[in-house]
Amino acid sequence: MADSWNSPDKFNREAKAWDNNPGRKALAEAVAKAIIVTAKPDNTMHALEIGCGTGLVTMEIAPLVNSISAIDTSTQMLAVLEEKISRSGITNVKTTCTDLLSPSGSSAGEKDFALIYSSMTLHHIDDTRGFLNRLSTLLSPGGMIALADLDLEEGFFHDDPIEKVHHGFERKELTAMLESAGVQGAMFETIYVFDKVNRTGERSSYPVFLVTATKAMH
Ligand SMILES: C[S@@+](CC[C@H](N)C(=O)[O-])C[C@H]1O[C@@H](n2cnc3c(N)ncnc32)[C@H](O)[C@@H]1O
Repeated sequence: MADSWNSPDKFNREAKAWDNNPGRKALAEAVAKAIIVTAKPDNTMHALEIGCGTGLVTMEIAPLVNSISAIDTSTQMLAVLEEKISRSGITNVKTTCTDLLSPSGSSAGEKDFALIYSSMTLHHIDDTRGFLNRLSTLLSPGGMIALADLDLEEGFFHDDPIEKVHHGFERKELTAMLESAGVQGAMFETIYVFDKVNRTGERSSYPVFLVTATKAMH
């Protein structure tokens, strides 16, 4: 059970079997496809993924960009990604175990990123506003943020009742937080819907959005 925000132990335990869940793979494919259409990654871009996990999204984006900093707080999720990187011969992905919001957190180089993306990580981060502010400082002028996560849900999506997570996000509230972080023009698209029996035994639908927004040029 994970009873605190940022619980690497839970993800460390789940890492080896993470990719066996077909829903996760289907979601990651949908996220990568939507990022490719919306953010148009190209070979000049340095990209950053926060909460990359086993790299389901990053492995799709890597061939299209100059480089990716793939960061996560779980050593075991990153170990699975490292295995994939060495098997595939990909050379432009660098993994780092760090928490951007901790006082010692770094984004592995702190360069200006043209693209920052995440998939299902935002709801694991307690301080959404602080996190978005931090991302904004890492974006280059004109750079794009692309975050995939759950729409506001009734609170039963996660099976562990004491796991500390946000129960999705209200699109208007997230737009306001992005704007106050200096990231503008938020556009939402529903890119995937989880259809699952939740922990109360009810079958429910959980839509996932991709929000994209751009850092002002100055
Ligand atoms: C639900 S998983 C999603 C993993 C991956 N993005 C995917 O779609 O398969 C959330 C990931 O975020 C990571 N995570 C949670 N809190 C984090 C934080 N503060 N900083 C970086 N990564 C974090 C977890 O270790 C985990 O790998």
